[in-house]
Amino acid sequence: MREEGLLAGPTLPEEEAFEVGLRPRELSEFVGQEALKDRLSILIEAAQGRGEPLDHVLFSGPPGLGKTTLAAILANTMGAQFRITSGPALERPGDLAAVITNLDRGDVLFIDEIHRLPRTVEEVLYPAIEDFALDLVVGKGPAARSIRLDLPRFTLVGATTRVGRVSSPLRDRFGVIDRLDYYPPEDLQKIVERTAAILEVDVTDAGAALIATRSRGTPRIANRLLRRVRDYAVVRSDGRIDEPTADLGLKTFEVDDAGLDRVDRAILSAIIEKFNGGPVGLTTLAIAVGEEPESVEDAYEPFLLQRGFLKRTPRGRVATETAYRHFGIIPPEPGQGSLL
Ligand SMILES: Nc1ncnc2c1ncn2[C@@H]1O[C@H](COP(=O)(O)OP(=O)(O)O)[C@@H](O)[C@H]1O
Ligand SMILES: [Mg+2]
Repeated sequence: MREEGLLAGPTLPEEEAFEVGLRPRELSEFVGQEALKDRLSILIEAAQGRGEPLDHVLFSGPPGLGKTTLAAILANTMGAQFRITSGPALERPGDLAAVITNLDRGDVLFIDEIHRLPRTVEEVLYPAIEDFALDLVVGKGPAARSIRLDLPRFTLVGATTRVGRVSSPLRDRFGVIDRLDYYPPEDLQKIVERTAAILEVDVTDAGAALIATRSRGTPRIANRLLRRVRDYAVVRSDGRIDEPTADLGLKTFEVDDAGLDRVDRAILSAIIEKFNGGPVGLTTLAIAVGEEPESVEDAYEPFLLQRGFLKRTPRGRVATETAYRHFGIIPPEPGQGSLL
């Protein structure tokens, strides 16, 4: 069970239904990421102009920034079906074969966490996305032969939190590779307001703005916090979310002024206090805070890096001056501690 305060944690099952209801269906509803939306709308128009399915697209970026949403928007805009699977779910070549032989022309096949696709499955995927063909081995022993099945032209949309882990032969087969970045507070405020309207929650501008600044640059977290603060507002006051209510509500969930949650702070204070400011290796650090190395690297670290609290060096993670100051600790003099 995920504990309170673990904001950057994975989506909970009960949260999924809620998220689906909030998903923008059109590019015009998708807030922010203007440059990316521009590129995608060109891609869509060009494909529509030629009467062809979309080129294969790979989205990378930290969890909760809208990769799945964009993939669904692409399918919706192209009037195509949206089929979802994931790298870990496709254990054997046959699992992928079963999915792709059920596709119709133009369908969008979404493979989440595509960097976790097993090698053997990846090899079946190559001809499928390049030549729209599936090579099958039928029979056993000397009678075995390979047959090639033609597939309809479909669009693969991959998503990954780790573009560096996607093998280069796979990466090379995408026509478009694009990255989602953390959202500025103005965009998150719009997302909070949009969600509030859908959920019929009364939130003031200042209340929405405050939630936005505490959302780790992440729409999923903005929506999570809004839901939590709504509960707080209903229980403790009249249900209206103004700035003081938002502030009190957020305090209960241990989100600080910089939008750091309890795990973010645990990571930084472990580096500072247990490891003398660093450098410390990822695994050692993850053990010290009781998290999986993968989740530290994928869910927590990118935000801490982006906000300048943390640096990665060849010898490990290092806390920056900003991190020390965040905790009100005087950073060591350069040359004395291990601070860079
Ligand atoms: N740009 C955006 N505008 C509005 N809502 C967004 C935006 N990006 C993400 N969301 C919302 O945040 C939640 C998480 O998005 P999702 O696409 O599942 O992220 P990812 O697949 O990158 O982890 C969804 O409920 C989605 O509706
Ligand atoms: Mg997703």
